Amino acid sequence: MSLGKMIGDKNNDLYMKIDKQKVPEHVAIIMDGNGRWATKKGLPRSFGHKQGVNVLKEIIKVSKNLGCKVLTVYAFSTENWTRPTKEVNFLINLFSEVLKNEIKKINEESTKIKFIGNLTPFPENLKKIISSSESLTKNNNEFLFNVCVNYGGRQEIVKVAKELALKSSSGKIKPSAIDEELFNSELLTRGIKDPELLIRTSGEKRLSNFLLWQLAYSEIYISDVLWPEFNENEFLKAIIDYQSRNRRFGGIESLPNESFKDSQCSS
Ligand code: IPE
Ligand code: IPE
Ligand code: MG
Repeated sequence: MSLGKMIGDKNNDLYMKIDKQKVPEHVAIIMDGNGRWATKKGLPRSFGHKQGVNVLKEIIKVSKNLGCKVLTVYAFSTENWTRPTKEVNFLINLFSEVLKNEIKKINEESTKIKFIGNLTPFPENLKKIISSSESLTKNNNEFLFNVCVNYGGRQEIVKVAKELALKSSSGKIKPSAIDEELFNSELLTRGIKDPELLIRTSGEKRLSNFLLWQLAYSEIYISDVLWPEFNENEFLKAIIDYQSRNRRFGGIESLPNESFKDSQCSS
């Protein structure tokens, strides 16, 4: 590995441009473009998924080094079942293999791994390794790595609505007690701060049913790079772009030394 390729290399100009005090705590990523990358190279789509795993390992390191606390990635959507069985099975096997090979290292790095989504349809061997990985790392607190599998934002919201309806019909809660906080507490991401930044690769400009509730006020960064070609520098570019945003949350830009004057609003 050349010096320039070393993760966190302080000679990398992009690092100089980053304000360490303003690094997003939680970054979410829609890792898209694996298939197109492989097809472009005349390879089966599965090669793209394999290369995508290598990129993911790099991005976990980079985001952690930079000071992010949570990384949430979209690995398999509720809609991805519509793909050919061969591809779906390949992905399911890949999840098991990668988890088996990486869990020791993930744990040694004090990373907590959590799977978000409906695990019911997955084969027993995958469910087992998911559950043992989650329990092995449950007390780690350096970094949280969330993997969304068989995840759909609408399905998650419907599930919360059902849960709250049940609680209210059984008298556990009053309908009037339902507010954003209570709703949040029933989400699969309960207890996790919403992502400040969403990155989607491959140039697609849509959410594809990802974290619909949680992304309400996230900054969105679209990278034209296909996920298997995404890397440290592309991630740093996303962070730099994020840091240039003015996050107004519906308010107005706050300018230093300028107080609100009534006269600005009259007339
Ligand atoms: C993202 O890459 C990975 C998954 C959805 C599992 P794609 O497989 O969607 O790749 P493209 O978008 O077809 O190129
Ligand atoms: C979103 O990508 C899902 C994942 C990255 C796992 P897709 O490739 O499935 O999304 P669409 O089909 O372009 O909306
Ligand atoms: Mg895609």
